Amino acid sequence: METGKDTKQPGQSPEVGIVMGSDSDLGVMEETTAVLKKFDIPFEMTVASAHRSPKRAAEFASSARARGIKVIIAGAGHAAHLAGALAAYTSLPVIGVPIDSSCLQGFDSLLSTVQMPPGIPVATVAIGKPGARNAGILATQILAISNPELTRKLEEFKSEMAVQVEKKAKKIEGI
Ligand code: RP5
Repeated sequence: METGKDTKQPGQSPEVGIVMGSDSDLGVMEETTAVLKKFDIPFEMTVASAHRSPKRAAEFASSARARGIKVIIAGAGHAAHLAGALAAYTSLPVIGVPIDSSCLQGFDSLLSTVQMPPGIPVATVAIGKPGARNAGILATQILAISNPELTRKLEEFKSEMAVQVEKKAKKIEGI
């Protein structure tokens, strides 16, 4: 299937497949792509909806492993069944990002994404941009299991966060 935009480098095929329920979710899901770019992880990105285009969503998930995808990240809002619907069609790990696009500010998406029945897990992250960022980090951690260079980069990333906390602590303590 046509899977849309990716950041394929020469000789590299996408390892992460990002799907969002609508193009209106892009502003949130760009938090995910920023992380993947930071860690030089090739990804593909497209739109498919569990409700408006269920066939497209099923095709994306069914063909993902054969395309070389190792982790799927799905962001959707409202009654967000996208991540779960994708998980039904693949044995790849699926990370769900509840998008805060409805008047319930993502609480509806959170419950629809996280409350999967036993047997079909979706690794659900926080609502909105913080969750989208964590989805990128979690996907990186999954890929790092078999990639020592990625592991090294993740450790560096964690150390840098600790350095930032030290700086903030010094600032606050000096007030
Ligand atoms: C969901 O409905 C999408 O994931 C999006 O968050 C929300 C609104 O979609 P649009 O009406 O903007 O296309 O399916």
